[in-house]
Amino acid sequence: MATDAGAVPADAARPLSPDDAAAKGPITRWLAGVAAVVMLAGLLFGYDQGIIAGALSGIKADFHPSTFVIEVITSWVTLGALAGALVAGSLSDRFGRKRTVILAAVLFAIGAVIEAAAPGSATLTVGRLVVGFGVGVASVAAPLYASEMAPTRLRGTFVSMYQLAITIGIFVAYAVTQGLAEDHSWRLLLGLSIVPGFLLLLAMLPLPDSSVWYMKVGRREDAAKAMHNVRPDEDVDENLREITASLGEQQASWAEVFSTRWRYPLMLGVSLAILQQLTGINAVIYYANNIFATAGFETPQQQMAATTWSIGAVNVAATFIAVAFVDKVGRRPLLLYGLVGMCLSLFVMGSCFYRLAHVTIHSSAASNQPTNAGIVLLVAMVIFIGSFAFSLGPVVWTVINEIYPSTVRGRGVAVATAANWGAAWLVTQFFLSLTEWIGEVGTFYLFGAMCVVGFAFVWFLLPETKGKTLAEIQQMWIDRTSRRTA
Ligand code: BGC
Repeated sequence: MATDAGAVPADAARPLSPDDAAAKGPITRWLAGVAAVVMLAGLLFGYDQGIIAGALSGIKADFHPSTFVIEVITSWVTLGALAGALVAGSLSDRFGRKRTVILAAVLFAIGAVIEAAAPGSATLTVGRLVVGFGVGVASVAAPLYASEMAPTRLRGTFVSMYQLAITIGIFVAYAVTQGLAEDHSWRLLLGLSIVPGFLLLLAMLPLPDSSVWYMKVGRREDAAKAMHNVRPDEDVDENLREITASLGEQQASWAEVFSTRWRYPLMLGVSLAILQQLTGINAVIYYANNIFATAGFETPQQQMAATTWSIGAVNVAATFIAVAFVDKVGRRPLLLYGLVGMCLSLFVMGSCFYRLAHVTIHSSAASNQPTNAGIVLLVAMVIFIGSFAFSLGPVVWTVINEIYPSTVRGRGVAVATAANWGAAWLVTQFFLSLTEWIGEVGTFYLFGAMCVVGFAFVWFLLPETKGKTLAEIQQMWIDRTSRRTA
């Protein structure tokens, strides 16, 4: 069982075997509470990712920030999340998963108030950092808590639920923005994020900490009680014995994480985490309205409608495809098909911007209807987001959570998660500047080229892990190292 930052046990991503499925047990009130915690943490993450797309126009109207400041206001939430994710592991080991989730919810609420009341860009940026820190802490502590509480047969479902909740949060943010699409409602949009924070607090308060944490700090009785509450159908003593054994195994040093033995899976996880972001997903999610504005969707209502349905709803819907197929067709096919769809649509998007440059120059500014190239751009964005949502979105997290051997899993997942937040920050921070330096056409072609790199990476370097047990995956790396050193 994982006990370090970003850790979700690798078997969380395992397919449910017929035995697992047969071993059905009751969904207790407690377990429903745990599901609520992981869903709310995902919603909070997603709401915050999505809300800035709609808030930006009002912020621009009020504060007249430069391009760089717009990028800072947009992307520093990610920087806060990177810091939050890095400390969340030690916080949840030291103070418990429950208190860490509560801290995240409180931070999130405080950050939302700072954002809503901000008199200028500087205070707004502070609010964004605080909110981001809360999101980062929750993004590690909540799935960790849920994966430690969930019965084995439901672990896979709980991890998928987290990614699904992120996409639902993004959709809700878009829908709320569409309802309040007047320029000066940005304070309300950002302030409203206090709601999922508050709900997370309410969901977490009555629940116990995880049995793994109680065992770690020597509170066996509490561990047994928590275990019995959420898994009344399982043998409590047996489960606690397993926890004790896995805690003993868990103490790998940082040197071992980076040792030659595990360098390959570490490289795979970190590269996939970075590639996921370098394809431009969060540029599209954060700056969707700007992109549609350039495409000829002139009013904020038109832009927000395009964003809500073509990005938000499609993102949720296509995530279900991954949930249904990741354990059936495998990780590699989903990733490869998804990357082809993403790559083609990014090149089409780039070409649309090429056409739009001419349309803007030559057409009359009086028309406030989307142009043909604008419609093609919308379709390409739908294909892009759909292809991401059934592949790179959920599958990268699935792979990251299953490729590390148990002794280095916590730290391996933490390194990959931090790399993911770092790359997300880089893309959102420099996206607008990049479009100024190399144009929209160049920027989208660059993201498309990253998908080609991603395809080659998956094709040549990523082995299929579907249906393999943890021990088999671990053995795969050992065999690989001995073949290379033989
Ligand atoms: C990514 C996020 C992204 C989200 C979109 C996740 O897998 O890590 O950066 O915003 O998918 O649905």
